Amino acid sequence: MESFLIKGGVPLHGEVTISGSKNAALPILAAALLTDEPCVIRHVPDLSDTRFMVKILESLGATARFENGTLTVRAKKIKGFADYKLVRRMRGSICIAGPLLARLRTARISLPGGCIIGARPINLHLKGFAALGAKIKIEGGYVAATAKKLVGNSMFLGGRAGPTVLGTANVMMAATLADGVTVIESAACEPEVVDLAKFLNAMGAQISGAGSPTITITGVKKLHGAEHEVIPDRIETATFAIAAAATNGEVLIQGARAEHLRAVLDKLNEANVAVTRRGADLLVKRKGQLKPADITTLPYAGFPTDVQAQMMSLLALAPGISIITERIFESRFMHVSELARLGADIEIEGPSAIVKGGRPLSGAPVMASDLRASAALVIAGLAAKGTTQVNRIYHLDRGYEKMDAKLRKLGARIQRVEEK
Ligand code: EPZ
Repeated sequence: MESFLIKGGVPLHGEVTISGSKNAALPILAAALLTDEPCVIRHVPDLSDTRFMVKILESLGATARFENGTLTVRAKKIKGFADYKLVRRMRGSICIAGPLLARLRTARISLPGGCIIGARPINLHLKGFAALGAKIKIEGGYVAATAKKLVGNSMFLGGRAGPTVLGTANVMMAATLADGVTVIESAACEPEVVDLAKFLNAMGAQISGAGSPTITITGVKKLHGAEHEVIPDRIETATFAIAAAATNGEVLIQGARAEHLRAVLDKLNEANVAVTRRGADLLVKRKGQLKPADITTLPYAGFPTDVQAQMMSLLALAPGISIITERIFESRFMHVSELARLGADIEIEGPSAIVKGGRPLSGAPVMASDLRASAALVIAGLAAKGTTQVNRIYHLDRGYEKMDAKLRKLGARIQRVEEK
């Protein structure tokens, strides 16, 4: 297993280019199952998660070619069964269910199982499929959805923590080939859902309202192949902006979409970090000493839960009290005890973490537990005095393309080493 060895204390300087969005690419790759014609998808990040989705598509019978960020997928003849051995390794694979149900009228998928950041049930996905007329059966760790035909319907897809991103994506994809009109209320408004709808419409679907809480899908008989360019990764953008601020550096982030990050830019401003737009680029540097800020994670356009951990690393450096409240996932504070190993002073009170910031951090060996927690540990390691070893970086490789190379280009002293 690999680790990152980071010698901290170097302000990051220079330019970094943002990769395509992991969370837009995964459902878009699954959507290629909706047609037997070739789909060409550009700006796909080269990550273990996207390569894994390709494996799943191939296990269903599709062919795929991945070259220089462009993926050509053809799902000419496919089957509707996805094995536990594959699905359990990546929860995002659940978004093949909607396309398979739409195209084959049957989908039998292993249930994704638990996740370290929360229970993450799929009841809302299944509620949506049932509303379209599918029979749902859960047996032996698998969920089977079958339907003689799918019929458009209106449904409310809000849950305990509000809308569901992949649930909205799954039901939207299933409804593209249903008879009649489907209306999804309390739909997720994330940019990744909008990007998926754009791709589906390029395939001949009739979707309106994506990006708002009400999405309308008018079913069509057949979808065709299409080409698409995936949006930049807003979570990667936020991660590099926070790394620049945490190290007191100056970084130009290229190929970003500031309009997808308003809540994050607002909180960075509150923490005394200037983010200036330069066309499609963002220039990030502190305005002075960091300041505390209170954060509550919310569905889009609120503050993203996928940036909560990284922001905690920054606020651990800001003198004063910051309160971070996690409203989306039940147990997404795994990074707190690891940040404490670097000297941060953070206490958990129910859904909130109370960050007493300003204490200098010092390097130590730490353990990554999930994708975004590991990004937070890398940021803290870059800001800390001395050497930090971040273990189990396979978590990072799931969602960040060549993170260490990009950081080295910004002057970071970071190496990928075999874990001892
Ligand atoms: C997507 O997960 C992202 N993953 C997550 O990013 C992200 O954290 C999450 O949306 C929220 O923004 C991908 O896009 C691949 P949800 P998703 O369904 O769709 C509850 C990362 O770091 N819920 O919107 O699985 C659920 O338990 C990952 O890149 C139900 O109760 O998340 C959670 O509390 C981590 N029933 C809340 O809704 C359901 O059927 C939001 O989950 C579905 C969800």
